[in-house]
Amino acid sequence: MDSVLSIIRSYPVVAVAAILSGVALLWVLVTQCTGDVYCKALPFVGLPEEGLSLRDSWNQQGPKVQAKGLREHNGPFNIMTGQGAKTILPNRFAKELQKHPDASFVQHLNFDFFGGWKGFEGVSFVSAHEKVFIDTVHDLTRSLALVTDSMADEARLAVPSSFGDCTEWQTILLKPKTGLLIAQLLSRVMLGTELCRDPEWLTIARDYTTNVAMGSMSLRGSSKALRPIMYWFNPQCTRLRQHAQDANRLIAPVVQKRRERARKLLEAGEKPDKVADSIGWMTIHAQGRDIDYASGQLGMAFAGIHNTTETLAAAIIDLCNNPEALKPMREEVIAVVTEHGWSRDSLNKLRLVDSFLKESQRCHPALGAAMGRMALKDVTLSTGLVIPKGSRFGVICPFMDPEVYPEPENFDAYRFLKLREAATGSGPASEYLHASMSAEHMGFGFGSHGCPGRALASNELKIALGFMLLQYDWRLEEGPTFRTFAVANSVDARCRVSYRKRESEIEL
Ligand code: HEM
Repeated sequence: MDSVLSIIRSYPVVAVAAILSGVALLWVLVTQCTGDVYCKALPFVGLPEEGLSLRDSWNQQGPKVQAKGLREHNGPFNIMTGQGAKTILPNRFAKELQKHPDASFVQHLNFDFFGGWKGFEGVSFVSAHEKVFIDTVHDLTRSLALVTDSMADEARLAVPSSFGDCTEWQTILLKPKTGLLIAQLLSRVMLGTELCRDPEWLTIARDYTTNVAMGSMSLRGSSKALRPIMYWFNPQCTRLRQHAQDANRLIAPVVQKRRERARKLLEAGEKPDKVADSIGWMTIHAQGRDIDYASGQLGMAFAGIHNTTETLAAAIIDLCNNPEALKPMREEVIAVVTEHGWSRDSLNKLRLVDSFLKESQRCHPALGAAMGRMALKDVTLSTGLVIPKGSRFGVICPFMDPEVYPEPENFDAYRFLKLREAATGSGPASEYLHASMSAEHMGFGFGSHGCPGRALASNELKIALGFMLLQYDWRLEEGPTFRTFAVANSVDARCRVSYRKRESEIEL
C-alpha cells in the first residue's frame, strides 16, 4: 500500500490518468453488459465467417443474416442490434401476433429512436401520448374525403413551385425535393394553410425526420458507453435539438392564438371553433391536459413525412427503371381525372398506380422485418416459446420469397392488379390494394398497430405522383440509388434524377 501511495505522490498526473481510465473501462463494461433483456433460449445469428461481430453482421448485412437465420433454424432466432439483442420471427408468426395486447409498436419505436433524449421530442411525444396521437391520425383518416381535396389543392400549387417550368433537362438530388413536397402536402392537413407554406416550417418538418433517422442510426452504430458523449458531437443530434427549439417558436404562437380565440368565444357565450386539422383534433383528444403541441407536430412529421418521402422517391426511381409502365399510368391518370377530378373516390379508380406503388414498396420496403414490437409483459407463442417482458421482436416480411411472389426479383407494375383481378370476392381482392395490410405484404405493418395513416399516405402519394407524371418527364442519373442499414431500406441521399417540364394533356 505504502509503495502504491509513494508512486501516486511521485507521478500524480500518471496516477490520475490511470484512475480515470479504470473508471472509464468499468463504465464501458457495465453499460455493455447490463440491461439487455432478450429471449435467452434462442441462438444468435451473425456472420463470424465474414469476420463480422454480431452487431456489425446485423447493421451491415441484415438481409443476409435474416436469410441465414431462416435457413439454419427454421424458427425464431436472435440478432444483435446497436440497441441490444432482438428476436426475429419467421413470417408464420405474424397472424398469431397481430392483435397481441402486450406487444407495443410505440414502445419499440421509442427505444430504437432514442425517445427521452433531447431533440427526439417528436418520438417521446408519440410514446407519452400514444392515444392522443393515434386517435388524431384516425380522425384525419376518417376525414379522408376532405383531407384528399385539401392535398390535391395544395399539389396544384406545390408541384409547379417545387419543380418550375423549365423545358430543358435539369438535374437534382431526388430526396430533398420530394421531401419538401410531401412535407407541404401533409402540413396542409396537419396545420392548415397558415404554416404549410412557411419555408422554415417545411424545412424543419422534412429535415426532422431525416435527422431522427440518421442521428439514431449513428447512435445505434456506436458503442453504448460512448453514446452519451457522441450525442453532443453528432451533427444530426445537434440539428435535432435546434429543430425542437425552432418548432416550438413557430407552433406555440399558433396554438396560443387559437386558445385566445376560443377563450373570447366562450366569454361571449359562443362555441369555440372546431378546426379540422391535427392541432384541432389533438386539442380535443388531450381533454384539457397540457400537451406540447410543437413536439406533437414533430411526431406527426416523423410518423408521416419520412416514410411517405421514401416511398415517393423510390416510386420515381422505379418509374425511371421501368419506363414501360409510364404511358399506361399517365393514360390512367388522364382518364380518371378527366372524368372524376381529384377526390377520395377518384383515387380509388387509379388501379394501375395503386398496384405500382404496392410493388415499389415490396421491392424497397422501409423494413425487411416488420411488426417491430416491445413485449410489455411476457409474450408466449403457440410453440410455447416465451418472449420476456421488456425484450424486442420483429417478424420477417416475405417480400422476396418466390413461393409468395413468383419471380420476386422482377419489378412487375401489374403484379397486384393481376392478383386483385384474379381474386374472388371483395375480401381477398381488397387485400391487394396499396393501403391494405396482410401478413404477406407488411409495407404498412400488420395487425392492431398497423399504420393508421396508410389511407392518407396512399392518397397523398397518388396525388403527388399523378401531378409529377403529367407535368414532367423524369430520368435517373448515374450513381447510388438505394441503401440498406440492418434491414431498413432507404433511397440514397446522393441519388440524382433529371426532369423537364412537359405539357400536361389535361388541366390538373
Ligand atoms: C408511405 C407512407 C407510410 C409508411 C410506409 C408507413 C409505415 C408504417 C409502419 C411499417 C408502421 C408500423 C406498423 C406495424 O409495425 O404493424 C407504421 C405505424 C404508424 N404510422 Fe405509418 N407509414 C406511412 C405513413 C404514415 C402517415 C402519413 C401517418 C400519419 C399521418 C402515419 C402514422 C403512423 C402511426 C401513428 C403509427 C403507429 C401505430 C400504432 O402504434 O398503433 N404513418 N407506419
